Amino acid sequence: MKDRTIATHAGRHPEQHFGVVNTPVFRASTILNPTVAALKGPKGVRDPRYGRRGTPTVFTLEDAVSELEGAAGAVIAPSGLNAITVALFAFLGAGDHMLMVDCVYAPARRIAGTMLKRMGVETTFFDPAIGGDIAGMIRDNTRVIYVEAPGSQTFDMQDIPAIAAAAHARGVKVLMDNTWATPLFFKPFDHGVDVSIHAATKYIVGHSDAMLGVVTSTDECLEPLRDSAGTMGVCAGPDDVYLGTRGIRTMPVRLRQHQENATTLAQWLEGRPEVARVLYPALPSDPGHAIWKRDFLGASGLFGVVLNPVSDSAVAAMLDGLELYGMGASWGGYESLILPTQPAANRSATTWRAEGPTLRIHAGLEDIDDLIADMEQGFARLRAAA
Ligand SMILES: Cc1ncc(COP(=O)(O)O)c(C=O)c1O
Repeated sequence: MKDRTIATHAGRHPEQHFGVVNTPVFRASTILNPTVAALKGPKGVRDPRYGRRGTPTVFTLEDAVSELEGAAGAVIAPSGLNAITVALFAFLGAGDHMLMVDCVYAPARRIAGTMLKRMGVETTFFDPAIGGDIAGMIRDNTRVIYVEAPGSQTFDMQDIPAIAAAAHARGVKVLMDNTWATPLFFKPFDHGVDVSIHAATKYIVGHSDAMLGVVTSTDECLEPLRDSAGTMGVCAGPDDVYLGTRGIRTMPVRLRQHQENATTLAQWLEGRPEVARVLYPALPSDPGHAIWKRDFLGASGLFGVVLNPVSDSAVAAMLDGLELYGMGASWGGYESLILPTQPAANRSATTWRAEGPTLRIHAGLEDIDDLIADMEQGFARLRAAA
């Protein structure tokens, strides 16, 4: 079946729930057993056992994301950052080495530099453009290569198939943050990824009203992931899980519009005299465009803009007066956002050089003419304040 059909139907079982279209919100801690034999008997992954171990609400989301992404199964976490932790802890222990891409989401870098370091895991950061040359960085104790494409803030693409081939030749697992592309626009398991991580808080929930994480994987990696989540007691609240599943039902139509708006806005920004460059792999001018075109099925609504040199106060004048672009953490909801970013502060293996201040824009579902008009007035304020 095609993705839009899977997104509409996967994981739903109305016949088990009174004919109700959506799997209801099951609130559960205690789950009762009818007999002593049932209480003591062997339990499968999905036998009712305890609320923390999952309910039909949770299994519906697991199935929907897994089917859409082509995974063997999924683990649900209460945030994207927690999903990253579950995945890292599943495959790393004392004495191990990890290779992590230098454009990684900053809090993932923090896990490597704090908790994993204390556990005795060493991390080496690598240039996103490394490709197959990563083979030269793999050590005998390397267990994980962690990628995020495109990278946070700078949107650097990575040659995932080349990295995965080098990893697998040495028995190393490839973990990927696939939040930007969602299960719709990048199929990680077709390109050699072993474990895919989503901040479902973004496009899967899609409405800026819940925190949620998902990890999906190949069959081989599923047990370690379930063990990691189970040991740490990871579980998400039922309302948030429900909102994640509800988001998936409309994700294909939302993503198509995010892509259309982001592409139009990015192209318009490229033509502005105030803009030095736009960081969006879907643009032919982007250094990662060829890889994006080869491996990805679409582009979501998040991208970067490097301005020509201008004062911080002029940028503030531009951003403060915007009517349609909110300023705040996160992205992937239906609404447009804008933030100043500091990519250079989150690099250690490479140096990030920019002509001027950097912005991160999330193109929401508003009418594109209104989004451009608002931005045009922003540039007028920027020029006036410069
Ligand atoms: C690429 C990426 N991964 C992971 C996360 C973490 O997700 P959450 O905020 O749900 O913990 C974010 C959130 O900003 C993100 O942008």
